[in-house]
Amino acid sequence: MNNDEVQMIKKTWEIPVATPTDSGAAILTAFFNRHPSSLEKFPFRDVPLAELPTNSRFRAHASRIIRVFDDSIRVLGQDDAEEKLEEIWTKVAVNHIPRQISKESYNNLKEVVLEVLTAACNLNESQVQSWTKLVNHVYDILFKSINDDGDAI
Ligand code: HEM
Repeated sequence: MNNDEVQMIKKTWEIPVATPTDSGAAILTAFFNRHPSSLEKFPFRDVPLAELPTNSRFRAHASRIIRVFDDSIRVLGQDDAEEKLEEIWTKVAVNHIPRQISKESYNNLKEVVLEVLTAACNLNESQVQSWTKLVNHVYDILFKSINDDGDAI
């Protein structure tokens, strides 16, 4: 990613990160509405979809996802950005291994993340491309540690 792309990502990210839990909740709500079976992995699996936005475990996962992206975006532009991204996203992979989150499920979430960001930041086509490049890159790191079913490799 070139410097212009990094600056654009940092600038557009300011909008969703200003209200991290709400932004994460918007992502997760869209994710569970579209892929309700993903809820089975979560402790709030029995909470009706309409009540999720006020559920504290749900809100915790929502803000944790935003935190991981925020940590990643902060390191962009630093000399050791690549090592830091490896560290952050390998940790995400390893932490989720006991929960067997399939690559398909991660990809479903990725699609929603990009859609919510596009709407929240009013991204144009080339900005969407740069964001997609970044998310694909961190997913490449994430997917190095797991097979299709989400088990360790
Ligand atoms: C961009 C992708 C994702 C990121 C950055 C992310 C981040 C996190 C973080 C930081 C935690 C808390 C630390 C931990 O317990 O490991 C967590 C927990 C969890 N994640 Fe994810 N996650 C992602 C995708 C997913 C997906 C796709 C699923 C399942 C469909 C999932 C299921 C869970 C579950 C079940 C927990 C435990 C929640 C709880 O106990 O309340 N995650 N995630």
